[in-house]
Amino acid sequence: MVVEDVRALLQPIEFAGLTLPNRIVMSPMTRSRTPGGVPNALNAEYYAQRASAGLIFAESTAVSAYGVGFIDTPGIFTDEQAAGWADVTSAVHRRGGRIVLQLWHSGHYSHRTLLPGGALPIGPSARPVSGSVRTPTGRMDVEVPRALEREDVPQVLDEYLAAARRALEANFDAIEVHAGNGYLIDQFLRDSTNHRTDEYGGSPENRMRLLLEVIEAVSSVWGRKRVGVRLSPTNPSVFGIADSQPEVLFPQVVDALEGAGIGFLDMVEGATGEAADQYPFDYEGLRRRFSGVYIANNRFSRESAEQALADGRADMIAFGRSFIANPDLVERFRAGASLNPIVFETLYGSGAEGYLDYPTMA
Ligand SMILES: Cc1cc2nc3c(=O)[nH]c(=O)nc-3n(C[C@H](O)[C@H](O)[C@H](O)COP(=O)(O)O)c2cc1C
Repeated sequence: MVVEDVRALLQPIEFAGLTLPNRIVMSPMTRSRTPGGVPNALNAEYYAQRASAGLIFAESTAVSAYGVGFIDTPGIFTDEQAAGWADVTSAVHRRGGRIVLQLWHSGHYSHRTLLPGGALPIGPSARPVSGSVRTPTGRMDVEVPRALEREDVPQVLDEYLAAARRALEANFDAIEVHAGNGYLIDQFLRDSTNHRTDEYGGSPENRMRLLLEVIEAVSSVWGRKRVGVRLSPTNPSVFGIADSQPEVLFPQVVDALEGAGIGFLDMVEGATGEAADQYPFDYEGLRRRFSGVYIANNRFSRESAEQALADGRADMIAFGRSFIANPDLVERFRAGASLNPIVFETLYGSGAEGYLDYPTMA
């Protein structure tokens, strides 16, 4: 079927007890405009500008002071941060939008200059990892992490639980657990980073245990249908994180999430980044295993998004970079208008420039 207009993208859809006006999602994106970790007026204006999206996913937000992996990113582990987020959600709601919080723990993808008391980042295993992160003192190489002790797992789950409670108080419409892109939960999922010999390592069932325990914890606050998960089965974007058998692991992960009854899956299909190699993978097979709302992401254009919906291989489409550069992406799609190009120099941490000043259509 060849699709030439945007009828499917502009269809309403039921999502987590809400009726969304369209199927166009703003993908979660770190912008490093939150010095001190407390969401501010610039952040509120940025998201409010994009309120015509069917759904906004807010950027990766640390559930713990020990889960921060990037400079000037927001958290949801203090009351002050929750109050800052409440201002963001009310700005979005006033403009008629809906916003989901992405709960993030960076795990070993961090640096001691970002963590309280200069603590070493935690990961599934104390093995060397390569790569560097942006810190207050510039880009720093990642060190060998501290392996999360079995006895420390309840504390991590408590942090997710407390973050879920604060997200509810801050009036988000749903929450998403970030289990992709090489962060803590993904580090547990993959056999390239998880070398544990306890019940959190080894078989796929063991490696997904932390994810399922986190889902259990946050669902106790939100109910299952307003909880979703982001996965990125073949995205090597962070540290080249990989699994030796993603085609074995991820169908099992999706079956377990289906069994847990979560409301939505946010799937980064393939590798992000311009020159990245694409690893062949059956994403349609994953989609067929899941009865909730399936959101597909990565490199979609208006045309390819429309085609994916028409073919029934996704329920909604998440757009990343095009939403940064086009606050009125929905209106532009409706009008068939051209898109603003993205400015790469101001992606991270440049205040209002490159953040609030992308023009809407005349
Ligand atoms: C500046 C920037 C920041 C990003 N930050 C996050 C993030 O915080 N959490 C996340 O899950 N993905 C993040 N991503 C990935 C995007 O959500 C999305 O998966 C990716 O850009 C591919 O979609 P696109 O081709 O439509 O841009 C980021 C991407 C960009 C460009």
